Amino acid sequence: MNYTEAVAAALKGCVELPEEELFALLETPKNPSMGDIAFPCFKLSKLLRKAPNAIAAELKEKIVLPAGIERAEAVGPYLNFFIEKGQQAQTVLTKVLDAGKAYGGSDEGKGRHVVLDYSSINIAKPFGFHHLPSTAIGNALYRIYRHLGYDPVGVNHLGDWGTQFGKMIVAYRKWGEKPVDQYGIRELVDLYVRYHKEAEEHPEMDEEARAWFHRIETGDEEAVALWKQMKDATIREVKKTYARMGVQFDSWAGESFYEDKMEPVIRELKEKGISKLDKGATIVDLSEWNMPPCIILKSDGSTIYATRDLAAACYRKETYDFAKLLYVVAYQQDLHFKQIFKVLELMGRDWVKDCVHVNFGMVSMEGGAFHTREGKVLYLDDVLDAAVEKTYEIICEKSPDLEDKRSAAEAVGVGAVIWGALYNSRIKDVVFSYDKVLNFDGETGPYAQYTHARCCSVLRKAGGYDRGALDASVLSDPYSLALLKAIDGFPAAVKAAGEKYEPYLVARAVMAVCTAMNKFYYEIRIMADDEKERTARLALTDAARQTIEIGLNLLGIQAPERM
Ligand code: ARG
Repeated sequence: MNYTEAVAAALKGCVELPEEELFALLETPKNPSMGDIAFPCFKLSKLLRKAPNAIAAELKEKIVLPAGIERAEAVGPYLNFFIEKGQQAQTVLTKVLDAGKAYGGSDEGKGRHVVLDYSSINIAKPFGFHHLPSTAIGNALYRIYRHLGYDPVGVNHLGDWGTQFGKMIVAYRKWGEKPVDQYGIRELVDLYVRYHKEAEEHPEMDEEARAWFHRIETGDEEAVALWKQMKDATIREVKKTYARMGVQFDSWAGESFYEDKMEPVIRELKEKGISKLDKGATIVDLSEWNMPPCIILKSDGSTIYATRDLAAACYRKETYDFAKLLYVVAYQQDLHFKQIFKVLELMGRDWVKDCVHVNFGMVSMEGGAFHTREGKVLYLDDVLDAAVEKTYEIICEKSPDLEDKRSAAEAVGVGAVIWGALYNSRIKDVVFSYDKVLNFDGETGPYAQYTHARCCSVLRKAGGYDRGALDASVLSDPYSLALLKAIDGFPAAVKAAGEKYEPYLVARAVMAVCTAMNKFYYEIRIMADDEKERTARLALTDAARQTIEIGLNLLGIQAPERM
């Protein structure tokens, strides 16, 4: 039981309200000198028809204080509780250090699957900067759920199906100069761009492309082999980028995977009378819900993106029996997912309530895409490279003696970009700038990593500390207590991030620990002469270090020990 729960339980002894309600009413006073937990008496005032100030005063006399609460004071309409500092410090530090790498986690998700559909890039298309939010948010949620005891399943729902692959084959057969499997994404994109240029003057090429895609669909050996090689070449390349970003997938089942799994869905829609024919196409009319129809089959009988998503959702339910299915996809697809969810509901899939479109705003590069080496697309890899290069320069200046500057620059540069995508509520549009994300003094990834490295350095220089001798009651100055409080707030942030699908809550909690840690570092002499004080301050530094490391890792960011 934590202090807030204990206070709620104690209040229950003298107030006619259920314990959950009392718990929900408890607040944290803005000013720490007013106590640690506050009970506002307004609600009771209405129930009891008595002034809130009088109720607060009466409660103060009646209440039996739980263990760990030093005193209660009635201040106006509030009853404020003060936690016994010495004991609190010992409890928190012991809890954090005992938990180790598991701190902030729980087993709330035990035995339950969460399927996450994220990054979900398109084959033979640029892995662009615009894929950053889906990739970073999805990866962070994956890690957050794992920390909360869930069994996450990461899916890269590849865009690997459609007429564009017919076009790619036409282009390759016309202009290809080496085996397809030796092509990189940029070269494949060049082929695609060239195709579109030439097809403007030679519309017959489109006919040819359709024929090639048809050959892929019908399993023609040559066509399928070419398509598969392009797909493999793309995957091979993006895996390198994912590795840099600490991103992993349990499944790469893309759109093509559902080619033979749509038929039962289409049949069910017809048989249940959910779909109907409309000018040759098969659609689900959604006008009753103020949405345009969801197209299931085009008039030429071909399936589309939406058909595959319907089949994919059903497949995932059967395969993983998920507690939640999260689609980490930009808000541009809000309508698409509303339609999909509505059609699943009409099909009687009650588990559609567990499907969530975790949408997000746009990222753009400050000053436009002038950092690209080619064309209009900004490649994610180019952004990572540029960030790493700039970081390398900063590190050379700041830490000329650091041994492995290159690997530190990689961890910090890539981390800075990821942090930049995760520091705000996901629906906000982000305008990205290198100066902003690489500001070592701002609320950035590098600042968090730097604080972590600083803690490591303090602990290294101290040569460790004796945990058995820890008496945290000596931590009574406001800086130590503020740091403890920030560390203590971390688990609630992780839990909330999972509930709201908002990794930024973890990033903010990490930043709170970093800010408090640096204040503590500047104001308090960690290496105190008094051994008790020194031990307690080192343990506190260690707890901060550990919390920052865990938090960064939950976001998919490395925490180097030196930088
Ligand atoms: N490949 C799609 C795109 O780039 C995103 C796919 C998202 N996932 C899904 N199941 N629809 O727009």
